[in-house]
Amino acid sequence: MAVGIELDGRAALVTGGGAGIGRAVCRWLARAGADVAVADLRGEAAEETAALVAAEGVKAVALTVDATDPEQVGAMVDAAVAALGGLDVAVNNVGMTAGHGTAAFVDWSPQALRDVVGVNLMATAYSCQAEARAMIAAGRGGCIVNVSSGETTRPAPGLAPYGAAKAAVNHLTQTLAVELAPHRIRVNAVAPGTTLTAQVAASLSEEFQASLLGAIPLGALSEPDDMARLVLLVASDLAAHTTGQFLLSDNGAFLSRSRPPYEVR
Ligand SMILES: NC(=O)c1ccc[n+]([C@@H]2O[C@H](COP(=O)([O-])OP(=O)(O)OC[C@H]3O[C@@H](n4cnc5c(N)ncnc54)[C@H](O)[C@@H]3O)[C@@H](O)[C@H]2O)c1
Repeated sequence: MAVGIELDGRAALVTGGGAGIGRAVCRWLARAGADVAVADLRGEAAEETAALVAAEGVKAVALTVDATDPEQVGAMVDAAVAALGGLDVAVNNVGMTAGHGTAAFVDWSPQALRDVVGVNLMATAYSCQAEARAMIAAGRGGCIVNVSSGETTRPAPGLAPYGAAKAAVNHLTQTLAVELAPHRIRVNAVAPGTTLTAQVAASLSEEFQASLLGAIPLGALSEPDDMARLVLLVASDLAAHTTGQFLLSDNGAFLSRSRPPYEVR
């Protein structure tokens, strides 16, 4: 008996779908049969992903949104529901790892702190709120997947505001799992370890990547498709009894005592 993932006829929304992990998530959801709304700050990038989604033979719509603005997030969810006829799966993937480089916490400016917490925590919180409201109103259950980070499993020197914001996402995920369970809405967090998106590959020197590999038990860094497949699993009925969980996929980096602190150029 073949075991496959079937999302035929489901309506999915992915934030930050214009690049990296988000783009890969959109493509894998589409391959499983879901219709996908691709939301991104960069409208052209969202359009490019939507074209890749449509090529899989499902419905695709591109939405331009700044996920740190609650009004725009509300309009994004309304537009996704209108275009796809509902909302079954929401993947809150917007986040920023390397945008401000790395620095000791005492050297972070107030603006950089606000930016990093805004794009990693507040964007996720606004998205969860708007998505949950739409799912509750429709009364057909649903599934929310928040993209967290392996940096929440240990101190994150150089990336303190990022680690703290993502740790708050983990806590929000657990709480929402309890609050939304009566509405048959599952809420989980998927936590990538270092994943070689174009931006991450460019921001880590070859020497640093080599030192990371040496300290990671499975001796590998992930690709966006690897993370997308985990998100797909969590979003599918194979995980129908899983909620409030933090699913770490980091090649065992969490287990390593010697992993070096991040150096982002
Ligand atoms: N790549 C990694 O190594 C890694 C590791 C751990 C966690 N993560 C997390 O995975 C998620 C995706 O990361 P990635 O590396 O694929 O990122 P990326 O930078 O490659 O892509 C992020 C996308 O989000 C969009 N975006 C940024 N700010 C936005 C906003 N305010 N509103 C709407 N869209 C916005 C960007 O335009 C871009 O298309 C993030 O939450 C990140 O923190 C990534």
